[in-house]
Formats: sequence, C-alpha cells, structure tokens
Amino acid sequence: MDTIALDPRLRHANGFLGRTPRMLIDGKMVAAVSGKTFTVYNPATGGVIASVPEGDAADVDLAVAAARRAFEERRWGRITPSERGRILWRIADLIERDLEELAELESIDNGKPYAVARVADLPLAVDMFRYMGGWATKITGSTLPLSLPGEYLSYTVREPVGVVGQIIPWNFPLLMAAWKIAPALAAGCTIVLKAAEQTPLTALRLAEIVQEAGVPPGVVNILTGFGETAGAALAAHPDVDKVAFTGSTEVGKLIVQAAAGNLKKVSLELGGKSPAIILPDADLDIAISGAANAIFFNHGQCCCAGSRLFAHKSVYDKVVAGIADIAGKIKVGPGLDPATEMGPLVSDDQFNRVTGYIEEGRQSGAKVAVGGSRVGNLGYFVAPTVLENTTSGMKVVREEIFGPVVCTQPFGDDDLDAIAKQANDTIYGLAASVWTRNGGTAHKLASRIRSGTVWINCHNVFDASLPFGGYKQSGWGREMGEEVFHNYTEVKAVTAAL
Ligand code: NAI
Ligand code: MG
Repeated sequence: MDTIALDPRLRHANGFLGRTPRMLIDGKMVAAVSGKTFTVYNPATGGVIASVPEGDAADVDLAVAAARRAFEERRWGRITPSERGRILWRIADLIERDLEELAELESIDNGKPYAVARVADLPLAVDMFRYMGGWATKITGSTLPLSLPGEYLSYTVREPVGVVGQIIPWNFPLLMAAWKIAPALAAGCTIVLKAAEQTPLTALRLAEIVQEAGVPPGVVNILTGFGETAGAALAAHPDVDKVAFTGSTEVGKLIVQAAAGNLKKVSLELGGKSPAIILPDADLDIAISGAANAIFFNHGQCCCAGSRLFAHKSVYDKVVAGIADIAGKIKVGPGLDPATEMGPLVSDDQFNRVTGYIEEGRQSGAKVAVGGSRVGNLGYFVAPTVLENTTSGMKVVREEIFGPVVCTQPFGDDDLDAIAKQANDTIYGLAASVWTRNGGTAHKLASRIRSGTVWINCHNVFDASLPFGGYKQSGWGREMGEEVFHNYTEVKAVTAAL
C-alpha cells in the first residue's frame, strides 16, 4: 500500500487514523473475513489517508446473523423505550464530545470544509440522535371502532420491522449514518449498515461510539466495502427484513430488484434535479444568495441541490450576474484550510463525471457564465459553474450532475400552472424552492410542485422533524420526522371478541 501521508493540520483525528480501522460486527471490532482492505484517499490531494476492511458477502452474512440473533433474543427489544432513548442521547453526547475529531475525519475523507462539517453535518447528526431518542417512547398505535355486530376490542401496535440493511452515500457520511441508524434504533430494529466506499472513516468511528454508548452486541453492525459486493449482498440477503438506501436512482432500481427475492421492505432516497424558481417580485438579494447556496452548498453534492434555476425574464440577467459573481468569489481549496469555502469533489470518478457534464453542456450550446474548469492540478477541485440559457431538452438539465453546476433558464410566463409545469418537467421530485415576496403565490406554487419538499425563500433547510424524500424517481418513503417510522415499523391489528 502507498504510504499514509497525514496532513500536519490535523489536530484531533490522528488517534483514530493511527489505530487500524475495524468494522463492527456482533459487538466486536473486526477485520474482513477475507483479510482484505481497501485504500481511502484524500480528495484534496489524491493522497492515501487510511486503509479499511473490505467487507464482502461473507461479512454481510456474519453481520446479518448477529443482527438476527440480537433481534430474536430481544437484546434491544427488551430494553425499555425510555432506556433506549437514553442510549440514543448518549450516542449524541459522545458525537458532541468528539465533534472536532469527527469533523476532521469528515473533511479529509469527503473533502468538505472542516468548518462546514463542524457547524452543519455534525450538529445535525447529534440532533438526529436526540430527536429520535425522544421518539423511542412515543411510537404508538390506536384503538379502532368496528362496525360489526357483537362486541370487540381492536387496537393497533407498531412493531419493529426486524433486521434492517442500510446503505448510505458519501456526500454527508456521518449525517447519513445518523439519518439511518437513529430512527431504526428508536423503532426497536437491529441494523447492518454499509458505509460508502469513498468515505468509510466516520462510520467506523461511529461504530466505536455506538459501543461506548452501551448499545448491546449485534444491535448495530457497521461494515465497510464496495457496493457491487457488500452492498449487493446486503440488499439481496434473505434474512434482512428491510433495506433502506440512499444514493443514485440507478442503484436504487437494482436495490428494488435485489429485494424482490424475499420481498423485503424497501425505502429509497434517490437523486434529484430540484428547481429554484425566482419570481419577478422576489427580494433579489435574498434570492440570489439563496439560489447560489442552493447549488453550491456541499459542492453541489446534495440530492436536493437547486440545480435547475428558473428566473423570470425581467430579473434573469440580474440573477445570473449575481450568482456568477458569488460563484467567482467562492474560495476553493482543501477542507482543512480555514480560508476554504468549497473543497474538492469526493473522488476522481465524480470529478470526471462533473467535468464531463460541463463539457457536454458546452457542446450542446450552454454558455458558461463563470467557472467551467478544474481548479489547480492536484486533487478533484471544480470551479463553481453557472451555465446560461440552458433549455429543457439538454442533458445537463435532465440528468443529475451532483456537482457545483447550475443550469439557468429564463421564463416569460406569469401563469403559475405554466411555471409549475416547467419545474415538474423532470423524472425527479425531491425538492424545490420558490422565491417571492407574495405569500399567496408561494403557497399556490408549493401546491402545484410535485416534490417531497418545497422551500419558500430558503433552500437546503433541514431539521430532524421534517420528513424528507421524493416523489417520482426520487424515491420511496420518507426519512426523518415521524414519517420515518413507516420505514421501520410494521403495523399489527389486534382484535378481541369480548
Ligand atoms: P451509488 O448509488 O453507486 O452509491 C451509493 C451507495 O450504494 C454506496 O454505499 C455504494 O457502495 C452502494 N452501492 C453501489 N452499487 C450497489 C449495488 N449494486 N447494490 C447495493 N449497493 C450498492 O452512487 P455513486 O456511484 O457513489 O455516485 C453516482 C451518482 O449517484 C452521483 O453522481 C449522484 O448523481 C448520485 N448520488 C446520489 C446521492 C443522493 O444523496 N441521492 C448520493 C450519492 C450519489
Ligand atoms: Mg455507483
């Protein structure tokens, strides 16, 4: 293996990186059955930062068996809801204790600025465990009046769906683990989670935290490995009751097929091509900086990124100039550099994909208002890019780019149905934002847009209480909020003839 070159700016993560990272199976930190490892790269340099276990089908078998035993022996189920809630809070407290360490790991692994990980990813992950800890005592059923002759007592209970397989992406590595693990634990499930191969580090650190918090052995198992091997084995496993996936729509469809073998339940949080719609009466300062943040936050590597910008023709030029101005001033650099506002893309694959789309856009006639090129010649940096006068047939407008590239189009219409029709002209339906001073217009448009989230005069606003997920090919089911318990519980109707 290449030598590991640690960044001298690391203050907190050296301890973890100095240990040999291990997966968590049945309460033990273990290497892969095959003994294989794979290399983890720093996207700011392309340099090696760690090597982690390469789990595959054999490790998935062990982890699923452990999760099954833990479920059947009720190692988690017999702990009172209140105590389960306390354990979730303890996980939150430990993440908070290790905030700087986790933020550093996230930054060198994913590329995002340390400061962003510290104020966004990490606090949201902490909050997710606390919020879901509160739900552990509040997952209830109802009593039901029957219309049959005779006297009955009928009630429903929500029971844990069982052993859940969870597959997460690399854009918010620890936060995505929190979105998955916290509600499944609150619901009483046992878990096998597979981290993304590009960003395995914080999941493995979280595995240590889960142990320290007192989660019983086998209740949470955390694996590292590749999608085509470990991920596919988990999605197809006959003893997994439910699979929850976040990632590409392409792989989401494979998950559905793999799940068909034992008809396991499936929830999917997939891609998007979310519109940001700026109406002529918007507060343009707010709309311009908001629409820039909608696409450039996390380098555009957000499923809900505002990647299609529609601005009314009366304000379009001003909006494009404003966003281009912001884009041109964003400081692109390594995540550990305190001056950095935007880091590199996560991998060479994503770098090639995103720069390929920019080139494709150019060739199909989009004008590059700003950006459009690589930054530096080390690492995977792409300049924040604004494409002008894109049209709805272009590939860059139809497909998810997942990088800091916004496609802008003017609209001439004042008819809300026509505006919504354009916004809805996509296979996706994850999110949208509407920018206007008119409350009536905003809510009318919100009702016409076919997506799981609509933001008004804001974008990328997340809270543990807000259900998140997609219409159309953006997915099945909702993460977060009370809604998420539909993913992790079965409803049982109990009826007694009295
Ligand atoms: P991906 O969908 O391949 O990877 C996401 C997760 O799925 C990873 O943990 C991966 O190991 C796993 N996986 C891959 N193939 C699998 C399979 N056959 N069976 C089971 N699990 C599998 O996404 P990738 O390749 O990293 O990125 C490609 C594109 O996907 C991005 O450019 C972006 O458009 C989209 N994407 C969307 C995300 C979202 O949040 N909706 C997150 C990541 C990627
Ligand atoms: Mg893939």
